[in-house]
Amino acid sequence: MSVDKLHSGIVAPQGVWWKPAAQQERVWVTVAFVWCMILFASMPFWHFKGGQNPSGIRAKVAAADFQARTDRFVKEYQVGTDQGIPVVQAPAGSDLYLIGRMWSWYPVLKLKKGTEYTLHFTSMDVNHGLSLFPINLNFQVVPGYDYALRVVPNQSGEFKIICNEFCGIGHHTMVGKIIVED
Ligand code: CUA
Repeated sequence: MSVDKLHSGIVAPQGVWWKPAAQQERVWVTVAFVWCMILFASMPFWHFKGGQNPSGIRAKVAAADFQARTDRFVKEYQVGTDQGIPVVQAPAGSDLYLIGRMWSWYPVLKLKKGTEYTLHFTSMDVNHGLSLFPINLNFQVVPGYDYALRVVPNQSGEFKIICNEFCGIGHHTMVGKIIVED
């Protein structure tokens, strides 16, 4: 074997890499680039048109302030209790308040189907996950933040709020309730 056949780095490799790309290669580079641009554009498109990214209202909030708003909300609109937790039914268009803490959701919300509300929630301690069962809706419940969603219930029935973020020894018992009436 002669020395110039060894691709040692000292000897330039045999090839045509410095010559213009062949037709086929240019086609595939173009296809890959166009596909990248389609995927890139689909992110903002899906945010507005996909109907699955909640455009929430976010604000910082002190736990005590949120607790005070929730207490006022419960005092004003309580209609009963469910296993010691107040059941609250607010008029259409109201702001609803929901607190997640180790290991419960407070209060129980009673809503009317087809009515718009603004649902505010926060956590009093650690991160919790709000998962509405049996519907597949999931949100992070973060301490220090008021996360509000505009909601219009489109199904009636009883829905469980399951915590889906591990939050300690009682995590599996952290179940709340939303009741939607026709
Ligand atoms: Cu709250 Cu898990």
